[in-house]
This record gives sequence, C-alpha cells and structure tokens, in this order.
Amino acid sequence: MLSEREKLDTLANLMVELSHVSDLDILMEHILTQARRFVNADAGSIYIVYGDSLQFTYTQNDTLQKRLAKGEKLIYSTFTLPINKHSIAGYVAATGRPLNLADVYSVDPTLPYKFSKEFDEASKYITRSILTIPLKAGNGDVLGILQIINAQDAENHVIPFSEKDEKMMMHFASIASIALERAQMTRANILRMIKMAEMRDPKETGAHVNRVGGFAVEIYEKWALKRNLSRKEIDKNRDILRMAAMLHDVGKVAISDVILKKPGRFNKDEFEIMKQHTILGARLFFDRQSDFDKAALKVALTHHERWDGNGYPGPVDILTSSPIGGSNNLKGIPIRIKQEEIPLFGRIVAIADVYDALSTARIYKEAWNESQVLSVIEKEAGFHFDPELVEIFFSSLDIIRSIQKRYTDNH
Ligand code: C2E
Ligand code: SIN
Ligand code: SIN
Ligand code: SIN
Ligand code: FE
Ligand code: FE
Repeated sequence: MLSEREKLDTLANLMVELSHVSDLDILMEHILTQARRFVNADAGSIYIVYGDSLQFTYTQNDTLQKRLAKGEKLIYSTFTLPINKHSIAGYVAATGRPLNLADVYSVDPTLPYKFSKEFDEASKYITRSILTIPLKAGNGDVLGILQIINAQDAENHVIPFSEKDEKMMMHFASIASIALERAQMTRANILRMIKMAEMRDPKETGAHVNRVGGFAVEIYEKWALKRNLSRKEIDKNRDILRMAAMLHDVGKVAISDVILKKPGRFNKDEFEIMKQHTILGARLFFDRQSDFDKAALKVALTHHERWDGNGYPGPVDILTSSPIGGSNNLKGIPIRIKQEEIPLFGRIVAIADVYDALSTARIYKEAWNESQVLSVIEKEAGFHFDPELVEIFFSSLDIIRSIQKRYTDNH
C-alpha cells in the first residue's frame, strides 16, 4: 500500500506528465496504472465516447496478465457499447454520475443497468466490485469513463471500493479528462487545417486529400499485417497516417496563386518555387512532438522523394531550407535521400499522391485512364516508388477503386 506522501507524489508526477507527454495512449496507460495502484485494484479500463457510443479503449488486468507468458501482451478486442442505462458503463456515461458497486453479480434487478457476464465467461475472470467514474470536459460533456475493477485488501481478497477510494479516483478522472479534452481539441484543429488548405485550392484538393488519405491507410495496413504488428498499433497508426496524408500538400497554402493556379506546365523556376511546398508544410509541424506532428512533418517533407534518390527536397534544414551536407560534399552535389532512408509514411503517400494526380484532371493536365496510370505505377517500382509498396498497391486495387468511387470531385 502507498503512503500518503507517495500518493501525493504520484498525482503530482501525473500532472507533470500531462503537460509534457502529448501521446494520449501513453498517458492513459499511466493514469490507469497509477489509479489502480492507489486503491490496489486488480483491473481497470477506460472507455472513450465516440458519437453516441462508448468505445472500450484501454484495459489492464493483473490476474489475466499473470496467466500469460512473460512479455506477452494482454489481447482484448475493442468493442463499443451504446450510451444508455442498460449497461454499467453506459449508465455512467448517460447520467454523468459515478457508480460504486460492491458486487456486480448481485445488482438489484429493479435497477435499469445490469452487469454483462460475457467478458467474465470468455476470460474465466470473476468481476466483483466495480467503481465507474465519468470523465468530463470543462463544459460538463462526458468524454469517457474510468472503470476500476476488484479492489483488494492486503491479502489480495476482493473487497468493495470505499468512499475514500471514490474520492481518490475523482482526481485521476480529472487528469484523464484533461488529456482527452486536449486530444480532441488537437484533432479539431487538424481538421480545421485540412479545411483551410482546401479553401485555398478548392479545385484540386477536397476529394483528392480524402482519397490520398484513404489509399495511404490501405497500403499501410497491408504492410503492417505482413509484419505482424498488433491491431492496436495498426489502428493507431492508421488514424495518424490518414490525417497526416490529408495534409501532405498543406505547404501549398504558402505558394502564390500565380504559380499554384497556373493553367499550363511550369518552367524550371516555377517548379523550383513549387518544390518548397514540402519544406513549408513540414515547418508547420516542426516545434511539436506528438506522434501525429512527427508523422505529418515526415509526410509533408518526403512525399516527393523517390526510391532511386532523384526526388526532392532531399536532406534539408527545415527552418532555413538549406541543403544538409551539400557544401561538405566533395563535388558539391547534395547528398540524396533514398530507399529506406525515406520514412515509410512518405513512401506510402508518394504512391497514393501520384496515383491520384494522374487519375484526375488538374489545372495543368487532363485525367489519364486507369490502364495508363497503372502502367506508370508499375514501371516506377524501384525507381520512383518502393517496390514492395507497389506490390501491395496492386494487391489492393479493388479497395483502391472503391475509395475512388467514395470520394469523387463533384460530391
Ligand atoms: P499534384 O498535381 O498533386 O501532383 C503530384 C505528383 O503526381 C507530381 O509531383 C508528379 O510526381 C505526379 N504527376 C502529376 N501529373 C503528372 C504528369 O502529367 N506526368 C507525370 N509523369 N507525373 C505526374 P510533382 O511533379 O513534384 O508536382 C508537385 C505539385 O506541383 C503538383 O501536385 C502540382 O500541384 C504542381 N505542379 C507540378 N507540375 C505542374 C505544372 O506543370 N503546372 C502546374 N500548374 N502545376 C504543377
Ligand atoms: C488525435 O489523434 O486525435 C490527436 C493527436 C495528438 O494528440 O497529437
Ligand atoms: C487540402 O486541400 O484539403 C489539403 C492540402 C492540399 O492538398 O492542398
Ligand atoms: C513513420 O513514422 O514515418 C514510419 C516509420 C519510418 O520512418 O519508416
Ligand atoms: Fe506535394
Ligand atoms: Fe497532392
């Protein structure tokens, strides 16, 4: 059991972490771990509200974890619950009030909610006491819930949660709420940024960015499944990559209309100016450090790099746009970035972007038909594009075509 001093230190440390760590997953896992330590609870979960349902997002369970081999991860499926009074989590989300149940197997049958035994039956776990606390935004909206399961005494016998436990958990809930609310504001700002870029260049970009985002996550998922990444990791990266890919050309907002909207082909100087859109986009994400910011920076910077090293901008100082290593090189030829040195997300978006640019009409070109486009993609494997990703692209053609149909330019 923790001393009062240790408890205060733990809460203070979580508050510090809250202001430094921008990765929501890491924060939520730590909040859950510390909350359980405070009340010696065997298990716990955090659910997040999406629209009118609750999604089971984070979970920890010491008893189930002990049954696994060392280093093995607890596998659980993410499931969703409707926000209504029939389940315990749903009830707390619907009413916005905490609920402290001493034994979920003897809940008064006249109450609207009842314990759902499926999880226990599937996992051979026995749930007894559950403390469920709403996670609320500053304006009172419920953003999610924190649920702590099976409080234990010093001998690890399951006991009910006390009123004091309930008060303690309110502190953790408020830290988790701040983290969640901040993540949602970040997401809203990213969506605003995408809209703003679209307003700048409405003719080319609206459906284009949706398609590029859609193609990119399909390619990524196949790549990740080949490597046996976990479902949780894949879903998280899909989410980040979709938005980062949608912002691949955000740097074009800083390119003048004379160039951006030129009806014909560029001359050399005009193209040099346009090339700056990669660095200008990357600059927007430079001083931040969340996983999203890092991914968006890499995508903006490297989506015009080529597998054979002949892409742009190459290694540059993002803040000054000057080439890195160029003048140190004996022949004065800037060092090229190629193959796996190009971040995966940049290599993926390169294919998605070119495929879409060729398939659709641009202010400077007509749309090509599909067989012409596919033959370019195929021919460029190992030259413009990562050959493994080209192979994945062709194995996903049906899905690629369905994404094209979903986002058409005249919606
Ligand atoms: P974008 O229109 O989204 O095109 C993205 C990429 O698709 C291009 O990158 C290029 O790799 C490929 N692509 C597009 N059209 C063609 C084509 O007709 N033939 C071939 N072989 N590839 C094509 P790139 O060239 O680095 O251009 C970056 C962005 O610069 C383009 O994005 C577009 O906004 C602009 N841009 C490029 N060339 C011209 C041009 O001649 N006139 C105008 N007005 N804009 C251009
Ligand atoms: C999000 O993915 O919703 C936000 C990402 C972040 O917190 O940077
Ligand atoms: C957008 O237009 O929505 C994103 C940025 C761009 O492609 O210009
Ligand atoms: C990424 O975050 O861009 C993917 C990892 C890599 O750099 O290959
Ligand atoms: Fe671009
Ligand atoms: Fe593009």
